[in-house]
Amino acid sequence: MSENTVTIINNATGQQIELPLRNGTEGASVVDISRLYRDLGVLTFDPGFFSTASCHSAITYIDGEKGMLLYRGYPIEQLATHSSYIEVVYLLLYGELPAAEELRRFEAVIGRHTMINEAMRDFLKGFHHDAHPMAMMVGMVGSLSAFYHDSLDIRDPRHREISAHRMIAKMPTIAAACYKHHIGEPIMYPRNHLGYCGNLLRMMYATPCEEYEVNALEEQALNLLFILHADHEQNASASTVRLAGSSQANPFACIASGIASLWGPAHGGANEEVLKMLEEIGDVSNIEKYIAKAKDKDDPFRLMGFGHRVYKNYDPRATIIRDMCYKILEQKADSSNPLFELALRLEEIARKDDYFISKNLYPNVDFYSGIIYRALGIPVNMFTVMFAIARTVGWVAHWMEMMDDPDQRIGRPRQLYDGARLRDYVPLERR
Ligand code: CMC
Repeated sequence: MSENTVTIINNATGQQIELPLRNGTEGASVVDISRLYRDLGVLTFDPGFFSTASCHSAITYIDGEKGMLLYRGYPIEQLATHSSYIEVVYLLLYGELPAAEELRRFEAVIGRHTMINEAMRDFLKGFHHDAHPMAMMVGMVGSLSAFYHDSLDIRDPRHREISAHRMIAKMPTIAAACYKHHIGEPIMYPRNHLGYCGNLLRMMYATPCEEYEVNALEEQALNLLFILHADHEQNASASTVRLAGSSQANPFACIASGIASLWGPAHGGANEEVLKMLEEIGDVSNIEKYIAKAKDKDDPFRLMGFGHRVYKNYDPRATIIRDMCYKILEQKADSSNPLFELALRLEEIARKDDYFISKNLYPNVDFYSGIIYRALGIPVNMFTVMFAIARTVGWVAHWMEMMDDPDQRIGRPRQLYDGARLRDYVPLERR
């Protein structure tokens, strides 16, 4: 028996096999079970992927016990302090921080792709104005494959790169267009002399009849939020993108599937739910009541923005966002913002409560992000759209990594079937 193997014994048959143990550069080792079915005739069962590594990846690493997050090896705290979102985009896509000239060229490339086909504006007009912006995003991003099919040969690395650049560049333009459609204002064209986040703010808030100046702190706050949301390894939406891409679907369709997955309240939709929850709690005097609801097994209510599958410690992104809340609210002369006060108090009370302590439930990235979005004037139903813009690079990086892997195969999970056994069809008149 080798030290680098795990022995599996089927007690029913007495058969036994040794499976290789594989080590990454960081984190838990994995048991390579790919031969298990062939050699032992059994499958593994892990519906929520609690103990399953779905792939190997060199993009992002999380140590959930320590509350550590690395992009390509760099700690999130350092990137949040020193980097720009577009630099982080480059890092996630290409694996290294760009040199000054590489960054300049990359910014220019992204700038060249910010416009969307004019016909997409007509497509957008087909949506009812009160459609949820995430619903429009799923449709609009999916439609990119109808408008940009000149770069859809997924076997061609250059085509893959062009599609990646297009998606990253067009996401703010599409998101702002959805917002303008929702509020009934003219859609604004991008201005490429502005940075990625400044351009987005302008496309959301400017109108053709007035000059608009991007507020430097607001741009900085958005830049920070986008860095923090850029990737988070094999979460539900990244895994959705990988699974969709494994069938060799085009990248725009894959990213649209990622947006759909992100929308759920257990994932990216939580930022919207946190704001709604804080508004519903309304006052510090009601916190205890909501904490009791969250602890009640018979009540479906959960403390939104709390808990995480991987972090069993404070989510490092939440700490950074909480600090930014102070800064941005101070600048807005809103340092006694009642929702922020409520969120802080809610965190304080929950973190002293045995239920949250014993289950390692800490604030996650979504707990404080909405406070900043709200301070930037972004409506609640656009919060998850902001997350989707920032996360696009993560999805794209995972898709590119997968497509580059010569061993890539279609993702095809198996199941534990517990339905009816073989039986004969019963004609209608005998049922
Ligand atoms: N409030 C109250 N109880 C909770 C919460 C919460 N927010 N989160 C987990 N629990 C309890 C849960 O009831 C369970 O208790 P028990 O063991 O007695 O059955 C235990 O903690 C473990 O929870 P789980 O649902 O089995 O854990 P999970 O890893 O499957 O779910 C989660 C993780 C994030 C979906 C969950 O914590 C949750 O629903 N949180 C609220 C939604 C949220 O904030 N989502 C954003 C996640 S971070 C950003 C992102 O992914 O986009």
